[in-house]
Amino acid sequence: MDQAKGLRKVVKNQALLKRKVNMTSGKKKLPKVIAVTSGKGGVGKTNIVGNMAVSLSRMGKRVVIIDADVGLANIDIIFNLRPEYNIRHVISSEKTLNQVMAESDHGIKILSGGSGFADLSQLNEGEKLNLLSEFETLSDQADIIFVDTGAGISSNVLYFNSACDECIVIATREPTAITDAYAMMKVMSQEYGTRYFKLIVNMVDSVADAKKVYAALSGALDKYLQNVVLEYVGHIPFDRQLQKAVQKRGLVMDTAPDSMAAKAIKEIAASLGNSPVRSDSNGNLTFFMSKVFQSAT
Ligand SMILES: Nc1ncnc2c1ncn2[C@@H]1O[C@H](COP(=O)(O)OP(=O)(O)OP(=O)(O)O)[C@@H](O)[C@H]1O
Ligand SMILES: [Mg+2]
Repeated sequence: MDQAKGLRKVVKNQALLKRKVNMTSGKKKLPKVIAVTSGKGGVGKTNIVGNMAVSLSRMGKRVVIIDADVGLANIDIIFNLRPEYNIRHVISSEKTLNQVMAESDHGIKILSGGSGFADLSQLNEGEKLNLLSEFETLSDQADIIFVDTGAGISSNVLYFNSACDECIVIATREPTAITDAYAMMKVMSQEYGTRYFKLIVNMVDSVADAKKVYAALSGALDKYLQNVVLEYVGHIPFDRQLQKAVQKRGLVMDTAPDSMAAKAIKEIAASLGNSPVRSDSNGNLTFFMSKVFQSAT
């Protein structure tokens, strides 16, 4: 195809997609897209996503998890799944999004990013459009979509956080986890204008300890980033049952549903599942993916 013809096709496809976005927004109940992120690694993001997903699916919600950790993707491990395909196969048009998603026994669909999300800015227009229209199909299949991000504040993590309707930050009592959570919110607010975050404090022994973490973070925000709001949504106790579950490639919500951690996660999931989508969000998955691309350019 000559260049001008190729360009015309891209412009036409973009117009079509724009029309589709307009047609779908406001009419259907669109999924809520929630990023779970942290700054520091190993604070419990993947376990919180997996267990919240199970909890919400038991409440009757249709849940999809996007594994956007390009480094050590491991949501499939705790679901004991071995996905054959990942987003790379969708980008190359070898598979559809539905063909690459693995489904857990709970009915949760998991989309592995693999290295496919590593450099979204390198995709050509055709690949982007293909991904956009594939993501549109997700809008009809989910009530809640979790994005499990990798650790750190690499650009890839930031693209996904900036495109989601909500951004949940996970921190623990460790000073490094607190400073990294703060660094994440700072860069998100300065580079992408994100002004609203939710906080879950993981691996604590008491509400008092969790509130100390919240106080440290909200104190720093009040001082240096006055326009950023952090909402405390809950804490999860340190619980060996969760660790035992991970060792068995499982989820504490399945292996020990009455454990402290499982109960706490269930409570948090219920509050998230019931909270309305913020008014500035658009829930449409084409819109979500195009926001990811916008951030990536
Ligand atoms: N509430 C908890 N109680 C006890 N241990 C926990 C708890 N939450 C997480 N852990 C431990 O922390 C480990 C890391 O958890 P997880 O893989 O969910 O973190 P992560 O933030 O996703 O890590 P990464 O940044 O590498 O993606 C788990 O394997 C488990 O051993
Ligand atoms: Mg993880």
